[in-house]
Amino acid sequence: MSGFDKQLSRVSFLVSQKLDTILAVPDGPESWLFEAMRYTALSGGKGFRPFLCHAAASLFEVKEESSVRVAAAIECMHCYSLIHDDLPSMDNDAMRRGKPSLHIAYDEATAILAGDALQSLAFELLSDEATHDSPHVRVALVAGLAKAAGMHGMVGGQTIDMLSPGLTLDAGGLTRLQKMKTGALIAFAVDAGAILGGASNEQRHALAGYAHDVGLAFQIADDVLDVQGSQSKTGKTLGKDAAQEKVTFASLLGVTRAREQANLLVEQAVSHIDIFGPEADALQQAAEFVIGRDS
Ligand code: IPE
Ligand code: IPE
Ligand code: MG
Ligand code: MG
Ligand code: MG
Repeated sequence: MSGFDKQLSRVSFLVSQKLDTILAVPDGPESWLFEAMRYTALSGGKGFRPFLCHAAASLFEVKEESSVRVAAAIECMHCYSLIHDDLPSMDNDAMRRGKPSLHIAYDEATAILAGDALQSLAFELLSDEATHDSPHVRVALVAGLAKAAGMHGMVGGQTIDMLSPGLTLDAGGLTRLQKMKTGALIAFAVDAGAILGGASNEQRHALAGYAHDVGLAFQIADDVLDVQGSQSKTGKTLGKDAAQEKVTFASLLGVTRAREQANLLVEQAVSHIDIFGPEADALQQAAEFVIGRDS
């Protein structure tokens, strides 16, 4: 295991530990919902967004309890998006993280509800005093996540994605889609670290430039894996984008040019964080991980 892989699994472990405690299964019929939330939230994703939040916070003197709680909130939001993304009315995907998708393992109503509850939990975590002493910081986190996840961000992007088979999107239109659908939450993960750390405007701006490029590269890599990846490594059904006539960078540019584009974005991302020097090694490695990954 590389040093980066070890750091990635350490943050993932800390976030899982936090969610394991928060999602302790209560008595009563609602235990069904908690089990369903746990099924996805503790199912071992890569933990990329939590890692970004933790690595950005590590540039500043942020208490680890704070960055782990915020990372856990971001993972909850991400898990909700995956559960809903797999629903029959969305991508109709039966496999996620190497297991049956939540609506297959449970049922559709439970998948909708578990997604809803994970989204609420994200905000509950951010607004809790245990996340940060300052109410200003907590409000900035709540507002940031709300914007990233909502109509101008992830959900807006998912809407364009669902409509994309009927749209004629050029590279600009597709970039906008990806930026909203995937980039916004990734950008928030990095910005959350900066908010927790009280970053200067210059530092926040540099991190935003980095996150913008990493987010786009991340979705391009996901689209390429859908065409050329291994089902056992990604743990999800492949070839779905083409089957559903989704517009992706792989369909628009072809896999080779899409990969080149992702490589360029990662180079550009790394140059944005020069100002932090070697302190930003973890963020640099995270950017490189995006294009090197096979899952
Ligand atoms: C998949 O995200 C959905 C996209 C936005 C591309 P990840 O590839 O981060 O999924 P997990 O969390 O590792 O399962
Ligand atoms: C999902 O994008 C983006 C979300 C906001 C959930 P995809 O539909 O490409 O993600 P996968 O390939 O199913 O993980
Ligand atoms: Mg989708
Ligand atoms: Mg999907
Ligand atoms: Mg995909």
